[in-house]
Amino acid sequence: MKHLLTLEQLSKEELLDILNLADQLKFQKKNKIPHPILAGKTLGMIFQKSSTRTRVSFEVGMHELGGQALFLSSRDLQIGRGEPIQDTARVLSRYLDGIMIRTYAQKEVEDLAKFGSIPVVNALTDYCHPCQVLADLMTIREFKGSFEGLKAVFIGDGNNMANSIIVGCLRLGMRVSIASPKEYEVCEHIQEFAKGYPGMFEMTTDPMVAAKDADVIFTDVWASMGQEGEKEKREKAFKGYQVNKEMMAVANKDCMVQHCLPAHRGEEITEEVFEAHADEIFEEAENRLHAQKAVLVKLMAN
Ligand code: CP
Ligand code: NVA
Repeated sequence: MKHLLTLEQLSKEELLDILNLADQLKFQKKNKIPHPILAGKTLGMIFQKSSTRTRVSFEVGMHELGGQALFLSSRDLQIGRGEPIQDTARVLSRYLDGIMIRTYAQKEVEDLAKFGSIPVVNALTDYCHPCQVLADLMTIREFKGSFEGLKAVFIGDGNNMANSIIVGCLRLGMRVSIASPKEYEVCEHIQEFAKGYPGMFEMTTDPMVAAKDADVIFTDVWASMGQEGEKEKREKAFKGYQVNKEMMAVANKDCMVQHCLPAHRGEEITEEVFEAHADEIFEEAENRLHAQKAVLVKLMAN
């Protein structure tokens, strides 16, 4: 693996390999066993959007691996004033050992990888959120023991989170059901990917149909970063697409809930369901750290 641009690029074996290393790194951290695998290495972190978890977990992760991280906001970089990504990629490749980027267009991440000469990690685009879903998969295995035979459900907008959940869960042998309102369904490209898993994927506009017999229910905000102007329109479109007590009642008894955060209580999830599943949701947030450290080691260790 040269970069982490999408989850589609990873085979089942590569995914499991990252998750196994993430478990090992989590064990080492919990037991205070030093693991300076990236000593002397520097990761640049380009942010064109806000972040709490991603920024902090990557920065702490590099520190714990013995390296360092540079926070590079697009507000300060020349990218923010129009310097092309092709040039930024070639310059940063001469200073850094890896680049993490959070931006809008997937093409920008792909271009960074194409024009640069160091590993690139996608830390969220409008298209996908591979780092988050690696953490989610790690959390599911921690709570459920394995993936085979589980039903994963996503309720909400068919964009970045939904796309990566579909890919990651199908790859690891889970069935996936997704409920989104019309006009907010996952893109053709992801639907094509899911066709490679016949009988394992369902798309519906009915959230209760999707949630039936779920082992894991995922949700995400109704208006993603960059869509703030559509808030009211989206509140109308997504009404009814809420993870609540009634929905949990049709899921399996020990159904988990995952939310990438930040959460909007009273919109995509009720306070009651959020708090009842807070242990799973905050373990998921913690696992960002361990899963990303595994990715950084795979990409940047000699
Ligand atoms: N889930 C997630 O990526 O969180 P941040 O936006 O806070 O990084
Ligand atoms: N769909 C959300 C995910 C945030 C982690 C967004 O893009 O804002």
